[in-house]
Amino acid sequence: MLIFTKIAELRAFLKGIKDVNQSVGFVPTMGALHNGHISLISISKKACNITVCSIFVNPTQFNDKADLKRYPRMPEKDAAFLEKAGCDVLFMPSVEEIYPTEKKETYDFGYLNTVLEGKYRPGHFNGVAQVVKRLFEIVAPDKAFFGSKDYQQVMIIKALVKQMNSNIEIVNCPILREADGLAMSSRNTLLSKEEREIASLVPKIMQEAKQIALTTGIHEAKQFVSNEILKIPDMKLEYYEICDADLNELTDTKQVKNAIALIAVFVGKIRLIDNIMFN
Ligand code: PAJ
Repeated sequence: MLIFTKIAELRAFLKGIKDVNQSVGFVPTMGALHNGHISLISISKKACNITVCSIFVNPTQFNDKADLKRYPRMPEKDAAFLEKAGCDVLFMPSVEEIYPTEKKETYDFGYLNTVLEGKYRPGHFNGVAQVVKRLFEIVAPDKAFFGSKDYQQVMIIKALVKQMNSNIEIVNCPILREADGLAMSSRNTLLSKEEREIASLVPKIMQEAKQIALTTGIHEAKQFVSNEILKIPDMKLEYYEICDADLNELTDTKQVKNAIALIAVFVGKIRLIDNIMFN
């Protein structure tokens, strides 16, 4: 696996790849890699000739400075993990390399940026769009792979690509989970043993709420989730919503068959998100 920290060197290498008509798949990450990330690498490897992974903890997408400071960083372990997974190229730029100036950029994602993560993490998607646009310009991949654990992020990236008039194909990949159902996340490593146990209740509550929504109703499912979470000390619900595929909140239980439920909870200080499809 080749490792680049400089844009110019990565670009020169990728030019050689594109000159011989090899396709490039791209998996952007913030590191502290787990099998969820590796599943994106595997999907990219099947779809493209060369797979590029980036690791960059993007300061502009953290609306909470403490969250940025405590974000796990383990570059050597990550590089070994990627090498084992057969990743071809790792790009690990510095903050100065990605943001040589402090130029602020603003993106307009309309409604999508006013709900769920957009509502509770102001500025977050603006920062995500800023870094992904920059990375897309640097790597210029044929396809880019994102996890549906961050369902709203995938929608934002699709909107960004449209706004950029780019023909990069955005591939939405399934959520990988731990044996007990908890969605894999870099932030899981920050949980204490007790918090990790509590966190495993999240997917269980989501599953039960799904059945309630499908059999009884949306209102009852929401009530169930907020009651269950209230019962658990150290857990705080930020939101639980049942939406259509475009993330419009559903109120009519008749529409629930193709819904998606999305949740954000704090376990201690750690914020976790998850979602589940109803069909
Ligand atoms: P990060 O949280 O490191 O995630 C990188 C990619 O891995 C994202 O597309 C995310 O959805 C995917 N992913 C995370 N957990 C997953 C799981 N359990 N199963 C499948 N895929 C999973 O998302 C970001 O970084 C950043 O916002 C980024 C897009 C890199 C921009 O900075």
